[in-house]
Amino acid sequence: MSVPSASKDRKIRARDVLARCDLLARFSEDTMGLRRTFLSPPMHNCHAEIAAWLKPLGIESKVDAVGNIRAFYPGIRPDSPRLLIGSHLDTVPEAGKYDGILGVVLAIALLEEMEGRRFPFAIEIVGFSEEEGVRFGVPFIGSRALVGRADDELLDLRDWNGISIREAIRQFGLDDRKISEAKLAGDTLGYLEFHIEQGPVLEKLNRPLAAVEAIVGQTRLALHFLGKANHAGTTPMGARHDALAGASEWMTFVESHANQIAGLAATVGSIEAKPGAANVIPGEVRITLDVRHKSDEVRSRAVRELAGRGAEIVNRRGLSLQWSTLLEQSAVPMDDLMTREIEAAIRNSGCEPHRMTSGAGHDAMILSERVPSAMMFLRSPGGISHDPAETVLLEDVEAAIEAGIQLLNRLADSKEFLGRTQRA
Ligand code: GLV
Ligand code: MN
Ligand code: MN
Repeated sequence: MSVPSASKDRKIRARDVLARCDLLARFSEDTMGLRRTFLSPPMHNCHAEIAAWLKPLGIESKVDAVGNIRAFYPGIRPDSPRLLIGSHLDTVPEAGKYDGILGVVLAIALLEEMEGRRFPFAIEIVGFSEEEGVRFGVPFIGSRALVGRADDELLDLRDWNGISIREAIRQFGLDDRKISEAKLAGDTLGYLEFHIEQGPVLEKLNRPLAAVEAIVGQTRLALHFLGKANHAGTTPMGARHDALAGASEWMTFVESHANQIAGLAATVGSIEAKPGAANVIPGEVRITLDVRHKSDEVRSRAVRELAGRGAEIVNRRGLSLQWSTLLEQSAVPMDDLMTREIEAAIRNSGCEPHRMTSGAGHDAMILSERVPSAMMFLRSPGGISHDPAETVLLEDVEAAIEAGIQLLNRLADSKEFLGRTQRA
């Protein structure tokens, strides 16, 4: 059976998308594996590569003061309002090639598919500099600047080398005094993000694409257990104040408690024990806790219960415990109109859409504070993400390109979308 030429072209486009994700994965802080944190040197290479892809389309890109790459494709009229399409370019340590990156690369592929055709809205592509929260412990630095929340408290945070966000911005060659210029333009109609699902739902349903109706809320905490370091051979078991044993008891409780609450995810993702020698009782432990649920009430209650058990454990063991909140992010519904249009676009492209909640955080949850925001998910083979084995199927990328084009056409025809009062 002969394949219609449009779909043949789309397969080539999808291949290009995957090849570009491979290419960007070469820009890493680590020689073994992919790690590209906020404003790290390889982000310069990433920006240069993206700028080179945009140039043949006649699009100049610029990097704003927090390191987001931004590119503007004009609409039919000079005063057409704009639709933002984007995702993030930073990664976790030992990352896959697609989390965030695929969304930026797909957005560029959509512009290429347009072949110069204009819409009643301009399209601004954004490659966010930071979403994962790896370097400074707090996520969404890039998108926070767009909604006007890159405040002094954020900019004064320091990384593990004692460098503040403000200093990191200067070291990258940017001007922190210009952060307010990164804010969303007042003519922004909405924000759209393509992203891999990062979980097993679509694969189980045997569907390639989904519309995201909500993103779960998150609490991220830093915990510091303090005990007393002492000799591992001479200190009797009953006379110890072992910070790591206390932290471990609490971590085990975190897992068993989360198992009892439907939909709750609670993770201790990093741990540091000091002084860190086989023959020394640990006197100090620092860990992080990440708690997520679609209901803010359930999440807050769980955090209170975990805190209560932490207090009980440290009292009993003669330890002390300090907490600090790194992130308190409410669950966020996506824009209903855009989500319905995404479902319809997926259906028009020949796939059965699924509606789902995202367990991962996304820039869309920050943008939605100011503009209607929506997301399309692509199936994640094996449900694997935040790991080098993260992948995406060629045919799903092809389907996402087709659905993306359908979506842009639908939004261009939607009086409701174009006529909405702008909130940015
Ligand atoms: C981002 O990937 C997050 O959900 O932590
Ligand atoms: Mn992501
Ligand atoms: Mn991620």
